[in-house]
Amino acid sequence: MKDFKDAGHLFRLAAVFAAVFLIFLLVRAALVPKGFGKYGHFRAEAIAEAMDKPLNYAGHKACEDCHSDIVEVKSKGKHKGVNCESCHGPQEKHVEDPGSVVPAKLETTSLCPRCHTANAAKPKNFPQVIPEDHSGGVPCDTCHKPHTPVIEAEAAEVKK
Ligand code: HEC
Ligand code: HEC
Ligand code: HEC
Ligand code: HEC
Repeated sequence: MKDFKDAGHLFRLAAVFAAVFLIFLLVRAALVPKGFGKYGHFRAEAIAEAMDKPLNYAGHKACEDCHSDIVEVKSKGKHKGVNCESCHGPQEKHVEDPGSVVPAKLETTSLCPRCHTANAAKPKNFPQVIPEDHSGGVPCDTCHKPHTPVIEAEAAEVKK
């Protein structure tokens, strides 16, 4: 034990390390949420929490049951790939109770430019216009049918 006669400071240092480690364990126990690690690096409860949130979007399928006429028309036009709720907004409440919750009327002057305003960052083949030059503030649905936006006469011209 002769070699250790001056080792007191080492034991004190070890005690400090042990205390810090203990504090770390306590803080960790207090801060790490229950269920962390059950599914890897996530909180297991996050899934249940997300599922508890109220639904806002009903999905395209939900609209098909009652609005098959519009689905049919839309499926033949250039907007076939655009979901109903991309334009009409979240409609879960309307689906649950169509009698009392009716979707708000859309204002095409602001709706259509949301996707079609010309922008150099958009793919070149995506149809885009400069709304002020193209229609000068006239609502887009004065000329375009929202569900089949290509103007028939012009489309027919092109086909001829
Ligand atoms: C259970 C049947 C049902 C489902 C499902 C349904 N609707 Fe409707 N919807 C109706 C009925 C009925 C009306 C007519 C309401 C009225 O005019 O009083 C209507 C009206 C509308 C209107 C027109 C409102 C107006 O201005 O006259 C829009 C837009 C609409 N629905 C969009 C949707 C969308 C988008 C979905 C899918 C997310 C959807 N609906 C799903 C039954 C349904
Ligand atoms: C590109 C945007 C867009 C998409 C996609 C779209 N709508 Fe519409 N819809 C409109 C606009 C604009 C109007 C006319 C203004 C209004 O009634 O709010 C309209 C009107 C309606 C109306 C009432 C008038 C009518 O034409 O009978 C119903 C019902 C409707 N949409 C249902 C649907 C359903 C169901 C889908 C999906 C299958 C859909 N819409 C997809 C933009 C859209
Ligand atoms: C959520 C985005 C979105 C909104 C809102 C939207 N569109 Fe479209 N639109 C599209 C997409 C996607 C296409 C298909 C583009 C393609 O075929 O490459 C399209 C195609 C079109 C075309 C066909 C262009 C062509 O010559 O191929 C016209 C015209 C058009 N939209 C007009 C409108 C009008 C008018 C409105 C408002 C009532 C509207 N769009 C709202 C996404 C949108
Ligand atoms: C006065 C009538 C009129 C109004 C209002 C109008 N358009 Fe058009 N638009 C046309 C015609 C005509 C064409 C060419 C034929 C076609 O592609 O359908 C066209 C073409 C388009 C195209 C296709 C461009 C391309 O490069 O293929 C888009 C996108 C479009 N319009 C969006 C809109 C938007 C968004 C609005 C509202 C801000 C609007 N339009 C308002 C008449 C109109």
